[in-house]
Amino acid sequence: MPCQRSGLLRSETLMSTLDSHGSITAERRLILDNTSVVSTVLVPEICLNLLKQTSPLWQAFEDTPEAKEIARPYWAFAWSGGQALARYILDNPQLVRGKHILDFGAGCGIAAIAAAKSGARCVTASDIDPVALQAVRINGNANHVSIETDASDLIYTENPGWAVVLAGDIWYDSRLAGHGMNWLRQLVSQGVSVISADPGRAFSPSAGIRPLITYKARSVPDLEHPNLQDVAVFRILSA
Ligand SMILES: C[S@@+](CC[C@H](N)C(=O)[O-])C[C@H]1O[C@@H](n2cnc3c(N)ncnc32)[C@H](O)[C@@H]1O
Repeated sequence: MPCQRSGLLRSETLMSTLDSHGSITAERRLILDNTSVVSTVLVPEICLNLLKQTSPLWQAFEDTPEAKEIARPYWAFAWSGGQALARYILDNPQLVRGKHILDFGAGCGIAAIAAAKSGARCVTASDIDPVALQAVRINGNANHVSIETDASDLIYTENPGWAVVLAGDIWYDSRLAGHGMNWLRQLVSQGVSVISADPGRAFSPSAGIRPLITYKARSVPDLEHPNLQDVAVFRILSA
């Protein structure tokens, strides 16, 4: 869905890409050159810089063996899991209002932005891909919210004060499903609410979760599934 204010947002977005010397960084240039500002059907309130259908970026990663060593541009998609999580937060703002939120594996930052728009006191977006964190800053700015970013691998780190951890569409990866899930369950046992959403990826958890709601969505842009998917939102329970 094209963003209704795409012209305005594009110029605002461009302003936000200037570093302190007024020049555009290579990471930000990569984002702006390969994306357009759109919103999704499920989350029309949030505009995001997402991969242009005409962009060669994703195909380059698919076609070039050496590119496999480089992080794939997951930040250029609004994954269906992230959309479902954002929808759930926007519809249940009391879950995050006044709290410190972590969006773990933030990608484009859709769940982080939903939390910030819902009145969270502080939102931190984490991703091991530094370009994703640039995308989160650009997207946060386009939605008039402020989001802190953390590029470290947070698995097994101490909780600095997060009350809620959001984890959208991370169950495609065996390490995230193994160590990541162990760590998230540890946080739950310490009193943190951990909410995730998943369209049925390879390592989707089936036990130790409490289902909350299911939405119909498709990732944007969608390179895998032309049809709407059932996307489950669930709480992660302690071990
Ligand atoms: C499929 S994307 C989902 C992005 C976003 N949550 C959404 O739903 O649109 C998964 C993201 O997790 C990030 N990721 C993978 N391993 C991670 C880790 N150990 N810590 C933080 N982020 C990680 C990837 O770089 C990628 O951006």
